[in-house]
Amino acid sequence: MDQRHAHRKDEHVFIAEKQFNPQSNNGLDQIRILPNNLPEIAIEEVDYSTSIAGKKSDIPFFINAMSGGSPSTTKLNQKLALAAKQTGLAMATGSQSIAVKFPDASTSFQIVRDTMPNGFVIGNLGAGNDLYAAKKAVKMISADALEIHLNAIQEIIMPEGDRNFYWREKIADIVANVDVPVIIKEVGFGISPATLKKLKEINVRFVDLSGYGGTNFAKIENQRLHTENFDCLNDFGMNIAECLIASKPYANDFSFTASGGIRNALDIVKCLCLGADNVGISGLFLHTVLKEDVTGLVKQIEDLKHQVKSIMTILGCHNISELRKVHTILSKDLLNFKNQIY
Ligand code: FNR
Repeated sequence: MDQRHAHRKDEHVFIAEKQFNPQSNNGLDQIRILPNNLPEIAIEEVDYSTSIAGKKSDIPFFINAMSGGSPSTTKLNQKLALAAKQTGLAMATGSQSIAVKFPDASTSFQIVRDTMPNGFVIGNLGAGNDLYAAKKAVKMISADALEIHLNAIQEIIMPEGDRNFYWREKIADIVANVDVPVIIKEVGFGISPATLKKLKEINVRFVDLSGYGGTNFAKIENQRLHTENFDCLNDFGMNIAECLIASKPYANDFSFTASGGIRNALDIVKCLCLGADNVGISGLFLHTVLKEDVTGLVKQIEDLKHQVKSIMTILGCHNISELRKVHTILSKDLLNFKNQIY
């Protein structure tokens, strides 16, 4: 295993946890849902099944990409996968780039598939990788889908990061030729409408908007004892509320995942109301598994499942399509953003 890479993976986990803020500013407080005082529904009637990367999923949220590539993140992957298995959640691994280059690192990701042999497992690679790497990553863990992350901001801050961002052709090749659905995602800076237009042109169908406000890779990289300080990018990006509003014109072109600073069941419901088909959670689940181990994470996931259903019940919504019709009120700032973005 490449030691420098493994060390970076450990640092990401360590700093992400140190910076974790349960009150993350994901923008969703700027959206209000009004009460439905006559819901005329019973909780047993609520069906929140949905799709992730076009495949049926019984639960509308999942454990998003974080871990793998070092001995301690292998253990973390195993714990996350155990919780995913016990609760029926889908789970994405962290970037498999290391294991594509150094096959002895594969076990760090295969442990997820071994732990949840019948579960929904999503692989993950950086956007600089080619079709050969993508096929290898999928095969490595018998992935049901593959995430490709766009992380130009993170890379440019890292001294050892990419400086060449010709990614589009490689993504197009992967989307066209890999035999599982491909989700293009950010890592917490948000995906803009101009980028969606480009992704549509290369036939991308699944996008994780991954907005600003939760785990912050500008701050994480700035903490990693670099000689050059890029603090000016610490507050750069679009939050998930902004991303979802900005992506509305593309509602028929993509199936959206919402992620970035998701804190609770109401956040999940708001994202579904705003058009997401499913919701990805990283920082919150990382914090829980580190503090309360698998048992604590399983309890948190079960509580979230129950609470999402409960909120759908008080809104009188039988399913996610009905949630989409719920009236939402935007704050002045968000309305201003909406008026300028289209
Ligand atoms: C991440 N994230 C991430 N994303 C990705 O596509 N590949 C990766 O390898 C990683 N690695 C990673 C490590 C750690 C420790 C964290 C916390 C996160 C980004 C993640 O999938 C997500 O897009 C962002 O973290 C925003 O969501 P949260 O954390 O605010 O819920």
